[in-house]
Amino acid sequence: MTDEEEKTEILMDHYRSPHNYGRIEGPTAQLLEYNPVCGDAVQMFVKLKGNIVEDVKFIGRGCSISQGSASMVTDLAKGKSVDEIMGITPQFLLDLIGLPLGPSREKCALLPLNTLQKCLSKLNRENVNR
Ligand code: FES
Repeated sequence: MTDEEEKTEILMDHYRSPHNYGRIEGPTAQLLEYNPVCGDAVQMFVKLKGNIVEDVKFIGRGCSISQGSASMVTDLAKGKSVDEIMGITPQFLLDLIGLPLGPSREKCALLPLNTLQKCLSKLNRENVNR
């Protein structure tokens, strides 16, 4: 198996059997975001304990890249601090996925990370305003 085939297989496994799929009842924060180009959606639910992501789940509909990436992002985020998650760069996620994606497919891959980071920054703002 080539490296690319292996990476494709990993992403497709996440798509077919997503990790952390579902809702969290009484989340600390949640956010639904769309890819404006295609209308596909990812909704993230986060449960924080202090500054740490104790649990994170998602629901969504869309292409294998967006939904597979959402599963990978939730795995990545669990147990991390809010600051660590805010520090995850788009390139880090694209490298983790490890597939050559054109600009429009990159948007698919980054939708879940953008949703999670927006969700957490919204929370920070709400805390500041409290
Ligand atoms: Fe819609 Fe990928 S085609 S998110």
